[in-house]
Amino acid sequence: MTSIYFDHAATTPMSLESLQAYVEAASAGPGNPSSLHAQGRTARGRITSARDKLASLLHCEASELVFTGSGTESDNAALFGAAFAQLKRGRKGIVTTAVEHHAVMHVCRELEEKGFDLTILPVDEYGRVSLRDAISAIDDSTAVVSIMAGNNETGTLQPIAEIGERARKHKAIMHVDAVQAFGYIPFDLQEMPIDLLSLSAHKINGPQGVGLLYIRKGIPFQPMVYGGTQERNRRAGTENVAGISAFAAAAERAYQLVQDRIAHAEEIRGTLLKALTEQLGEEMVVVNGHPELRLPHILNVSFIGISSESMLMNLDLAGVSASGGSACTSGSLKPSHVLSAMKINSERVLSAVRFSFGLGNTREEADKLAKITATISARLRNR
Ligand SMILES: Cc1ncc(COP(=O)(O)O)c(C=O)c1O
Repeated sequence: MTSIYFDHAATTPMSLESLQAYVEAASAGPGNPSSLHAQGRTARGRITSARDKLASLLHCEASELVFTGSGTESDNAALFGAAFAQLKRGRKGIVTTAVEHHAVMHVCRELEEKGFDLTILPVDEYGRVSLRDAISAIDDSTAVVSIMAGNNETGTLQPIAEIGERARKHKAIMHVDAVQAFGYIPFDLQEMPIDLLSLSAHKINGPQGVGLLYIRKGIPFQPMVYGGTQERNRRAGTENVAGISAFAAAAERAYQLVQDRIAHAEEIRGTLLKALTEQLGEEMVVVNGHPELRLPHILNVSFIGISSESMLMNLDLAGVSASGGSACTSGSLKPSHVLSAMKINSERVLSAVRFSFGLGNTREEADKLAKITATISARLRNR
């Protein structure tokens, strides 16, 4: 049976380099990085080396990086950690956007429950926040600003540098969820006005269950997980040594090949969109998201007249893996909060499918996928 995996925004296959690093670390024998004996020191050495590699890619100090268990945990730790630290300084404002991943959105809602003042910035029809709205929402009462770099459903990019400047001016903490953008967009943390940055290994051909949180030196931060003194008291718990080693290997590879990866994703995206439009007709295929200010590896399209669920179910039966929104909302019939926030008509919202691609995908697959989609579309329309 056909097997076409076009769901890289949900999770990616591990790269060979990442797998090798994982196997090497996992098969090297036991070693708790907190133990003082030789095996412990070896494990600690692996983490130090991974941290150094990631710090060099991000242009920050190794001590500013905290390994976590996922992108979700990084987002939670960033928001809770910064918000409660800022509360001690009398700041209660949280500013975010209507299109954040639930790992941010649900934390913001929880903070609101706990007494913080939440401002959710609207977006335009492409899913982009207005700089003017962001500027007027951030003032001296703002504790944390949380804006994603690139959206996981549409790929739309946000003006994080400009918003970060405003946050800095008012001494608010700027958090960026870069889980989807990392590996496609460079983050120079020495230059950029970002105080907290969330990343996740499994979106860049690394393993699942490993995240990273950058915490700028001097930023007030209250830990969320208590226990041992790991990660300089900022995240207790024995580190995932093999996963962390594999994360660094995946990130190094992603950076080395960044131009090739972008070109490859653009080629797949272009091929798929062209073939879909040719086969289904221009009026049946509507792209959701910004046409230019976007990540290269995501194509969100509405197949007008066909529900997302029917299309995804039929694609799955035909051996194609795609998604209706974020991984967390797929499987549920709730319309995507991201597309709903874009104020596009409900027909478009309810017929949206997200294709996302990367390592291992080919143009031939994109062409084949378009043919399969056209066949499904014709069948469903003739019912
Ligand atoms: C933008 C964004 N933030 C956060 C997450 C959560 O990352 P993780 O799956 O590592 O928990 C995801 C995952 O889909 C994401 O796309």
